[in-house]
Amino acid sequence: MKIGVGILGFGTVGAGVADGLLRNRETFSQRLGTDVELKKIADLDITTDRGVKTPDGTLTTDAMSVIRDPEIQIVAELIGGTGIAKKFILEAIAAGKHVVTANKALLAESGAEIFEAAGKAGVDVYFGASVGGGIPVVRVLREGLAGNEIERIDGILNGTCNYILTRMAREKLPFSATLADAQRLGYAEADPSLDIDGWDTAHKAVLLASLAYGFFVPKSALRVEGIRNLSAVDVQYADRLGYCIKLLARIARQGDGIEVDVRPTLVPAGHMLASVQGVFNAVMVHGDLSGDILLYGKGAGREPTASTVIGDIGDIARNIAGGGARYRRAIYTGNAGKLSVKDPGGIKSEFYIRLMVADAPGTFGRFGTIFGKHNVSIRTATSLPFLRGEEMDETIPVVVETHPALSGDLSAALEEIERSGVVRCKPVSMRII
Ligand code: HSE
Repeated sequence: MKIGVGILGFGTVGAGVADGLLRNRETFSQRLGTDVELKKIADLDITTDRGVKTPDGTLTTDAMSVIRDPEIQIVAELIGGTGIAKKFILEAIAAGKHVVTANKALLAESGAEIFEAAGKAGVDVYFGASVGGGIPVVRVLREGLAGNEIERIDGILNGTCNYILTRMAREKLPFSATLADAQRLGYAEADPSLDIDGWDTAHKAVLLASLAYGFFVPKSALRVEGIRNLSAVDVQYADRLGYCIKLLARIARQGDGIEVDVRPTLVPAGHMLASVQGVFNAVMVHGDLSGDILLYGKGAGREPTASTVIGDIGDIARNIAGGGARYRRAIYTGNAGKLSVKDPGGIKSEFYIRLMVADAPGTFGRFGTIFGKHNVSIRTATSLPFLRGEEMDETIPVVVETHPALSGDLSAALEEIERSGVVRCKPVSMRII
């Protein structure tokens, strides 16, 4: 049996998938027990050399000719974005084609609609490369952990941010200097705001949450904070206290609600996620039966992403050869309307707080009293020296670690501390994992 594949989008990932399919065809087909053939690749630009020797007649500028080709059963959408990619995916589904995509932004926004259309048409939509690039975390959640209640997932899901944070910590650099390097090295997106403002991570978090909890989290319910405003001072103070700062997605069950948020988070130096450096990604899943599982690898890039896309193509090929669409309900959405995202104020965790306090008698007592009034219990409070160049007259930096506190209580306490005049500028607070 021969199964035909068409690729839409001959960019970095599309070229990696084409290269992998052509280069490893024999091994791949032997493993699957069925021959998988790359039939066509559509892109508006078919003249630029992508370093892949495609067979004559493979390239076309007409995406619909790929979708309509009767010899193509699997369409890989590797264009990205939420515009034309959506139209092509829905056209492919309507034409009865199985779809593989790496498009997290589109699925986070329109996943419910796309999976419903696929379910009606009786085709598969695979999206393994949408989260974690070369890390097969989608498959682990969907298959290996299917029998677990997922208690929590913590993910470092954006290589650009992790690269920036790693260099800020190691080399004591400000955010702006490292972003420029990430762009120069090609890690950051052309418009890096999706990376550094946390939305790329949030799109991936929505997909992980849907796999774990059976509903699509609406954008309005997400709490997303990126690293754009992260100060080098906090990176270094966190280090003195024994933490590193990571942009972490947390997806967790808290009572009858789900916590889904993305924000800079202090991770103890001994925690496994603290050792995830540079552009690498990692996802830690805690299932009630499995306990902790850590998946680590390259979250982006031509070959790692192609690895996961080709793995998805292989699974669909097996399904076709076996006579059915195994994942017609690729995402279980049975909890839509039953589970909801928890009000952020009701989420409990430990916190790091930096206060630039007036250097005057009674200062510690004043802010300590306000924390106490709002049920925030201090675990440590330490005054630290200014970093060079950051000095302020008659002010001392104080960093506080709290015991577990409600986020809403902490916000109320910090607002009152700010109003009371005990601090010289707005307090900084971050969750501790
Ligand atoms: N730009 C992303 C990152 C990869 O830096 O991890 C695609 O999601």
